[in-house]
Amino acid sequence: MKKKLVILTGAGMSAESGISTFRDSDGLWEKYRVEEVATPEGFAANPELVLNFYNQRRRELLATKPNAGHTGLAELEKEFDVRIITQNIDNLHEQAGSSHVIHLHGELMKACSVRDLHTTYALSPDSPDIHIGDTDPHGVQLRPFIVWFGEAVPMIEPAIREVEDCDIFVVIGTSLNVYPAAGLLNYVRRGQPIYLIDPKEVKAYRNDIHFIRKGASEGVKELTKILTDS
Ligand code: APR
Repeated sequence: MKKKLVILTGAGMSAESGISTFRDSDGLWEKYRVEEVATPEGFAANPELVLNFYNQRRRELLATKPNAGHTGLAELEKEFDVRIITQNIDNLHEQAGSSHVIHLHGELMKACSVRDLHTTYALSPDSPDIHIGDTDPHGVQLRPFIVWFGEAVPMIEPAIREVEDCDIFVVIGTSLNVYPAAGLLNYVRRGQPIYLIDPKEVKAYRNDIHFIRKGASEGVKELTKILTDS
């Protein structure tokens, strides 16, 4: 029976693929106001601006590929029952071959309608944009399938269940600033090993964390050594 390895990832996981994080010095929130591009109010006020913000990030994603951190996590499926819970809206974990990925904040390559946030429509790489006037089969305007600030995070329940019965918990590339994602750490049973991979120090409110002060690619290599030697 393979041990269950649950991994929470954030923007730092995709940094080495060239996708900017949010809160690092050159991060996305240095260039855009969150309220304008990542809230329902922002979308209502200026749908064109918001649709273009995500069209641009979608095109950026199409020009990137998984890094050694993503592929290293996919490799771990040989030895472990790996479940990935990501805050990222990119599909680099899937491209790298990870087979169980829960997206807490939605998926960039999918759209939904402004009236039904659960029915999704895949966006194809050769026509990746959403424009005003693009509608679902019922004629309702499409929007990015992204959880904006203030919106419900329907995938948090399945994520909590995965964390509650994990044998090992790993955090990679997240500043643990945004809830409910950051709160998942609370659900790791005492005594289960927790590893945190990040080149910077991350304030985490538990004293039983094994820090690996490295980037995702090097950190996943070190984690793999630790887990397969033990
Ligand atoms: N490898 C690993 N971690 C890295 C790397 C790297 N190469 N480079 C940076 N990091 C770390 C940073 O040190 C930081 O701790 O990645 C983390 C990125 O933190 P944030 O930019 O806050 O991204 P994240 O935690 O994923 O943000 C959470 O906030 O804006 C919302 O919805 C958005 O999902 C996002 C959420």
